[in-house]
Amino acid sequence: IRVQEYRPQAFTDFTKEENVKAYQEALAKVRQEIVGKHYPLIIDGQKVDTAERMVSLNPCDTDEVVGTTAAATKEHVDQAIAGAWKAFESWKKWDMDARARILLKASAILKRRRLEACAIMSIEAGKNYAEADVEVAEAIDFLEYYARSAMKYAHFGSAETTWFEGEENGLMWIPLGVGVSISPWNFPAAIFLGMLAAPIVVGNCMVVKPADNAGVIAGFIADIMLEAGLPAGVLQFLPGHGSEIGDAMTGHPKTRFITFTGSVPVGLRIHEVAAKVQPGQKWIKRTVMELGGKDALIVDETADIENAVTSAVQSAFGFNGQKCSAMSRLIVVDDVYDEVVGKVVERAGKLTMGTGEENANVTAVISQKAFKSISEYQKVGAGEGKVLLGGEAPGEHNGKKGNYIQPTIIGDVDRNARISQEEIFGPVVAVFRAKDWQDALDIANSTVYGLTGGVCSNSRERLEEAREKFEVGNLYFNRKITGAIVGVQPFGGYNMSGTDSKAGGPDYLSNFMQLKTVTERW
Ligand code: SER
Repeated sequence: IRVQEYRPQAFTDFTKEENVKAYQEALAKVRQEIVGKHYPLIIDGQKVDTAERMVSLNPCDTDEVVGTTAAATKEHVDQAIAGAWKAFESWKKWDMDARARILLKASAILKRRRLEACAIMSIEAGKNYAEADVEVAEAIDFLEYYARSAMKYAHFGSAETTWFEGEENGLMWIPLGVGVSISPWNFPAAIFLGMLAAPIVVGNCMVVKPADNAGVIAGFIADIMLEAGLPAGVLQFLPGHGSEIGDAMTGHPKTRFITFTGSVPVGLRIHEVAAKVQPGQKWIKRTVMELGGKDALIVDETADIENAVTSAVQSAFGFNGQKCSAMSRLIVVDDVYDEVVGKVVERAGKLTMGTGEENANVTAVISQKAFKSISEYQKVGAGEGKVLLGGEAPGEHNGKKGNYIQPTIIGDVDRNARISQEEIFGPVVAVFRAKDWQDALDIANSTVYGLTGGVCSNSRERLEEAREKFEVGNLYFNRKITGAIVGVQPFGGYNMSGTDSKAGGPDYLSNFMQLKTVTERW
């Protein structure tokens, strides 16, 4: 296959009037053509409907239904897994080139429909323009990057072995079989797509359950993959309730591997279910997990303060802190604590609140469930430190009922407090006063998580020390700690944050393959 070298998609500049206008036109088009649409299951290429419907609400205006999906049952899981194994018989024999072309074709379609995908997420997930735009860019990047990565695994002998006289020795990569994917609502286009495209391009078939709160964008993406030419059964689309079909998918004896992005409790539950061997099962299931974070940014007394403030505010409040990479802990060395924290509070206090469609800085959090949990943490936090900003969860804005939560900053928190240790997944930040740099690094490493982290400092020695000792999968210096770009910053965490499988990294596809060594004596 002939393609130019991989380059990430450029982001859209929304300071340009014409880009804002185009976005607003896309919002109008999506309101006309997609809002209210129903997405059935897709099993063996057929649309299958169910009596029960899952309803996706606009988080910024919860009286509005964005769309509906069917709700799969355990019987659908059985059918989908059986159909996927049938499809696997031929899909695994396809040329790698031909499979890669389907991803590239899907990328071309998604590039053409980029604004529509963005607009859906503004309405369904409350993403503002920039957040939606970088996400769709990431979705396209995954397709382009994995299509190219697949070539590395295309031929017998593509992995190196040592020469041995009188024999031909070599390795071949082979796909695992049928996997299941359970994906999150916070990147409902990019992560949903990345988690299915990677296993599929190297010859696996996938049964995918999109997130409960983002079925419309998932249905839109699944349709693009089918339009790009995926054969029936390679991608089985199964929206449904986790409580109804989750264990049936992960515990199924014919599930070969599981790829999951979400919270630690759900991830550990999947890990446990997957570990139990079922009657008729003949493999050890593989799990690829991207879990939560309690991500910290350290600011020391040598830092460029303005840059540190910008980095902190962007990392904490982009998409309302609903990123596993978001900064939920700000650790500031005592000498500059008052100055840095004062400026962060001031800057965050200027963030606008509103809907994704209005392109507000802070919008509503995804669901009523999230709203309850985050507002509970606001109360816990108020007892564990000093509320410096926010602290309220109004639950409405400008006369619209929605899951609105104020950006909240809580100062002088103890490193062992609940809001220091538990993932909140919303716009709530705990701030720590560190005695000095060493103390700051100790605080940073004092949770069970290890996803992203950052240091704002101008000390070369400290940056080098952090490079070695800061226990995270993605470490950033003198910038925000969110927004990893495919191929540029392979993404994934240590410890309870996951299996460090590094989505968008050079060896990600090997998670979905096994190697066979073949020796022929001449
Ligand atoms: N990959 C995203 C980021 O880096 C988080 O999932 O922000």
